Amino acid sequence: MFVIISNYFQILQPQEVRKSLDTIIAFLQEKNRNETEFYENLFYFGMVILGYALLMGLFMFFMRQTIIVMSREIEYDLREDIFKHYTTLDPHFFKENKTGDMMARIVEDVSKVRMYLGPAIMYAVNILTLTLMTVYSMFSVNAKLAFWSLLPLPLLSITIYFISDIINKQSTKIQKQLSNLNNITQEVFSGIRVVKSYTREREISKYFDKATEHYRFLNLELARTDSFFSPLMFFIIGSSTLLTIYLGGLEVMAGRFTTGNIAEFILYIGKLTWPVTSAGWIASLIQQAAASQKRINEFMNVKSTIKFGKVQEIKNRDIVLDHVSFTYPGKTSPTLIDLNLKIPSGTKLAIFGRTGSGKTTLVDLLVRQYDPSEGKIMIGGIELSEMSNEVLRKTIAIAPQDGFLFSEKVKNNIIYPSSTRSQENIEQFAKQASIHEEILQLPNGYDTMIGERGVTLSGGQKQRIGIARALSVAPKVLILDDSLSAVDAKTEFAISQTLNEELYDQTLICCTHRIYQNIKFDNIIVLDGGKIVQEGTHEQLINEPGFYQNLWQSTQN
Ligand SMILES: Nc1ncnc2c1ncn2[C@@H]1O[C@H](COP(=O)(O)OP(=O)(O)O)[C@@H](O)[C@H]1O
Ligand SMILES: [Mg+2]
Repeated sequence: MFVIISNYFQILQPQEVRKSLDTIIAFLQEKNRNETEFYENLFYFGMVILGYALLMGLFMFFMRQTIIVMSREIEYDLREDIFKHYTTLDPHFFKENKTGDMMARIVEDVSKVRMYLGPAIMYAVNILTLTLMTVYSMFSVNAKLAFWSLLPLPLLSITIYFISDIINKQSTKIQKQLSNLNNITQEVFSGIRVVKSYTREREISKYFDKATEHYRFLNLELARTDSFFSPLMFFIIGSSTLLTIYLGGLEVMAGRFTTGNIAEFILYIGKLTWPVTSAGWIASLIQQAAASQKRINEFMNVKSTIKFGKVQEIKNRDIVLDHVSFTYPGKTSPTLIDLNLKIPSGTKLAIFGRTGSGKTTLVDLLVRQYDPSEGKIMIGGIELSEMSNEVLRKTIAIAPQDGFLFSEKVKNNIIYPSSTRSQENIEQFAKQASIHEEILQLPNGYDTMIGERGVTLSGGQKQRIGIARALSVAPKVLILDDSLSAVDAKTEFAISQTLNEELYDQTLICCTHRIYQNIKFDNIIVLDGGKIVQEGTHEQLINEPGFYQNLWQSTQN
C-alpha cells in the first residue's frame, strides 16, 4: 500500500509541471499581462509539486521502514536458526561438509535471501506499480505519442537482461577466483614454517602470482562489460526522449498537444528509466535467492542421528559394552568389531593399541559422537541413548589428543564457556593437570590470550589445558585420548600421581600407544584392528606373548 501511495504522488508531479509550463506560455502570449496573478499561480504550482514530493518521500520512508526492517529481522532469525541447527548436528555432518560451505550458508546465502525479502520484493512491487501508473497516464494524455515514445524501452529491457546475464556470470567467476585466492593465502600462511624451511617462497609466490593474474583478468573483463552498459542505456533512453520531442513537436504544431505536454512526457520517460533498467537486476536477485534458499534447506533438512533420551539420574557408573560393533557412515568394513567390556566404577582402564587400531573411535562412542552400529553401551544399566545430554556430559568428560583451544583467555579455555567458578577452582584444575606453573609464566597468567590474537602454546601445553578442561566438569568418568602423548616424562609422572591419588574414585579410561607404568591401571585391553585381542593387568600382559609384551621388552633394553 505504501508503495502504491508513494508512486501515486510521484505520478502527479509531471501533470503539475505541465500545467505550470502551459500557464507560463499562456502568460507570455497574453497582451495585457496580470503579473500578480501569474506569480501567485507559479507559487501555487511550486508548492503543489513540493508537497507531492514530500508526500511521496514520506510514504517511501514508510515503505522502506516496513519492508527493509522486516527483511533484516528475518535475516537475523534465519541466521540464528541455521547456526542453532548446526550445533545440533552430529560430528559426521561436520566431517562430510566443508567449513567453507557451512559458512557460506550462514553468511552469503542468508544475505541473498534477505535481498529477496527486502529490496527485491520492494523494488518489484515498486517498478510494477510505477510502470503501470506511468504508462496509463501517458496513454490517457496521448495514445499515439505514448506508443512511439515507449517503443525503444522494451529494447532497453531486453539488452539489459542479456548484459546483466553476462555480468552475473562474470561476477560469479570473480567470486570463485577470490575465494580461491583466499584459500591459497590462508594455506600458505598457516603452513609458513614448512614453506620457509623448504625454501619454497619463490614457487609459492609464482603460484600466487598466477592466481592474482587470473583474478585481474576476470575483473578487467567485467569492467569492459560494465563500461558498455551505461552508454548503451543512455543511448536508448536518449532516443526515446528524442522521439518524444520530435513527434510531440509535430502534435503541438497540429494543435493536439501543448508544450507542457512535452515536458510532462519527458518526465514520464525519466520515471520509467529506472524500472526498465532494474527489472533484470531484480529478476537475478530473485533467482539467486531461490538458489540460496534451496542450499539452506538442504542443510536444514539434515537431522542429527544422535537423539538424547530423558533419563536424568543414573545409579552407578559401571560401564558395560555389550557386543559393540561400529562402522563409520559411508564405510563398508567395520572399525570396531564385537567388543565386550566391563569397566567397574572407580577403576582405571588403559586402551592400548597402535595408531589406527580404533581407540579414538571407541571413546567417541562412549561420549556419543557416534552411536554403535550394533550392540549396546550402558552406564549403570542404562543405555547411553536413553540418557539426557546433560547427564551424559556431566558423567563423562574427554580430553582429546589434539587439545583444541579457542582464541580466548587461558582461564576461559579451562572453563568453557566462562562460568561463575572462582579463580581458585580454575587453578585447582590447572594444578591437577600440571599446567598451573606454566600458565603463571605467561605474560598475563590466566588472562593471557591464546591463539591468533595471543600466545601460541606447545602441543603438550595444549593437551594439558585440555585435561584441565575435562577435569573442570568434575566428571565421574574421565577419558584421556592419547592426551599425554606430547607431555614430557617429568610432567607425565606428576599427572600420573594426581590420577592415582587425588582422582582415585573417578573412573579413568586412558587411550595410549605407550606403556604408562606410573598410572596404576586395574585393567588393560589391547586393541588391534578394532578387536580386543588381549586383556589383563600389566603383570599379566608382559608375560603373555603379543604386542604389549614386545613393546615392553623393547623399552627394557
Ligand atoms: N571419521 C572417520 N570416518 C571414517 N573412518 C575413520 C574416521 N575416523 C577414523 N577412521 C578410521 O578408523 C580407524 C580407527 O581410527 P582411530 O579410532 O582414530 O584409531 P586410533 O585412535 O587408535 O589411532 C582408522 O582406520 C581410521 O582411518
Ligand atoms: Mg586416536
